[in-house]
Amino acid sequence: QLGRQIARPFWIDTVGRSNLVEIRIQLDDAVMRIFAQRSAAYASNSEIFIFWMLGTSSILLIVAVLFLRNQIKPILRLADAAESFGKGREAPNFRPRGAREVRRAAQAFLEMKSRIERSIEQRTAMLAGVSHDLRTILTRFKLELELIGDSPEVDGMRKDVDEMSGMLEDYLAFARGDSGEQAQPTDMALALEELRSDAERNGHAATVAFHGLPIVTVKPASFKRCLANLVSNAARHANAISITGHRDHRYLTVTVDDDGPGIPQQMREEVFKPFLRLDDARNQDEGGTGLGLAIARDIARSHGGDIMLGDSPMGGLRATARIPV
Ligand SMILES: Nc1ncnc2c1ncn2[C@@H]1O[C@H](COP(=O)(O)OP(=O)(O)OP(=O)(O)O)[C@@H](O)[C@H]1O
Ligand SMILES: [Mg+2]
Repeated sequence: QLGRQIARPFWIDTVGRSNLVEIRIQLDDAVMRIFAQRSAAYASNSEIFIFWMLGTSSILLIVAVLFLRNQIKPILRLADAAESFGKGREAPNFRPRGAREVRRAAQAFLEMKSRIERSIEQRTAMLAGVSHDLRTILTRFKLELELIGDSPEVDGMRKDVDEMSGMLEDYLAFARGDSGEQAQPTDMALALEELRSDAERNGHAATVAFHGLPIVTVKPASFKRCLANLVSNAARHANAISITGHRDHRYLTVTVDDDGPGIPQQMREEVFKPFLRLDDARNQDEGGTGLGLAIARDIARSHGGDIMLGDSPMGGLRATARIPV
């Protein structure tokens, strides 16, 4: 700026402690010395300086954002995989990627996943083996009973054997959980309607309603078993049953209401325990094993959800199954 206005050789002395700036200008035959307050002087290139600063820092910022984006993507993918594993779904083509730390976390997740799967498999295989052996013996027993012929005692034994094999099936179903089944898009409105017609066929007044998009990704057979357990409980204890499905952007909620005696508040956690039956005293021959709710909760949890018990507006029990969609 100065150079342009003076158009002569000049020299600025800014060195030294004083708050004066000395400017010497070469005139034709002399040197003009000008003293100015340091605060009155400013460097005209400070604008350029600021411009450069902003420019480079925004370029750096863009580079950093792009880099971080790239690093965050594998973390998000890991989170997605963990979430879908929690919901009992497969996470196909998930592979460790990204920075070394992220890759290590992903590797650890994969190892944990296969350990869990292995231990489930072992449990199932063991139980399948045991129940197979027991079933073989039971079948033999039944045959032997047939050969003995008819008498009241034999009838009683036959009933016991039948009960035993029923229980065996129940245990197996409980132990099997939903292992092996693949989650797939399922029409929930249709599934609920099937439950209703089953209940009706068994002589109960049942209504069904569904709100929202009916296609939900679940393990179809297990999820249906879960709901069927709730409905069969209602059918065992009540006359009227009402099944309602509701699906929003986060959850699928299925409530089963009945007009039976319900379950007292303080027992509502207890009844989820395997083999626990409240109606031992009430009616002993209506044989249940006390596994229904335990199985139902197991299945709901393997879908990442849960089962809750409460009071129904119909006067009995309200069982609610809720799973994330
Ligand atoms: N709708 C209901 N109304 C009243 N009591 C209920 C209801 N549902 C369950 N219960 C009580 O909770 C107990 C546990 O239920 P759960 O389904 O686990 O076993 P269960 O029905 O006895 O046997 P299972 O389902 O294995 O045949 C039942 O014995 C019953 O006392
Ligand atoms: Mg039951």
